[in-house]
Amino acid sequence: MVIHPHQPTQSTMQLRAQIRQDIRTARRGLTSTQQLADANKLFNRLITHPKVKNAQHIGITLANDGEIETVEFIKWCWANNKQTYLPVIDPIKKGHLIFIEYTHKTEMALNRYGIYEPKQCATHRCAIAKLNIIFTPLVAFDLQGNRIGMGGGYYDRILSPWFKDKKGPYPIGLAHDCQQVNNLPIEEWDVPLPEIITPSQHYYW
Ligand SMILES: Nc1ncnc2c1ncn2[C@@H]1O[C@H](COP(=O)(O)OP(=O)(O)OP(=O)(O)O)[C@@H](O)[C@H]1O
Ligand SMILES: [Mg+2]
Repeated sequence: MVIHPHQPTQSTMQLRAQIRQDIRTARRGLTSTQQLADANKLFNRLITHPKVKNAQHIGITLANDGEIETVEFIKWCWANNKQTYLPVIDPIKKGHLIFIEYTHKTEMALNRYGIYEPKQCATHRCAIAKLNIIFTPLVAFDLQGNRIGMGGGYYDRILSPWFKDKKGPYPIGLAHDCQQVNNLPIEEWDVPLPEIITPSQHYYW
């Protein structure tokens, strides 16, 4: 992993952009064999997680851009009568996500980032407060639980009530091991995660 010294000449924004680029490249470079092995290890960790066992409504994302695959876990949730929900860009509230139920029948469409999301259907929407867990995607994380995502601030907005008063969906980050960096340059709005699960580690803070 590339180490990113915090150089005074380089702004935090530039440094964050550089980390995003490096990690996304590393993630895309994982072979399909590695991806499969990582997904299997993650799957085994998730299905034995006590919070997952107790959860009924689970927010999660489908893998994109080299992210760790979640499909087998989603199917396991369906087989175990747990509801899964995918984020959709809120068409009304700028910068926000809504969560739509995802089943084997859900019709999908590409969003503005080239990511598949459920075709919106208000009847299948789940209030964020009703979700028990939000499996939180990330580009990079550090060993203090800090994360940076794709740069939209969507998850920082969703998780800020949880960070303030520990109410609402419990966030658990999912990542490949290669997404860990030494020290992330953090901004005041970034919400650190209480847990991150990778194929080889289960981090708690
Ligand atoms: N709670 C918030 N309220 C309003 N704006 C926010 C909030 N959190 C983040 N933002 C804004 O979102 C923008 C992007 O934030 P940031 O670079 O931290 O994204 P990110 O963590 O990579 O994205 P994401 O949370 O979607 O994974 C910033 O300009 C920031 O001001
Ligand atoms: Mg952030």
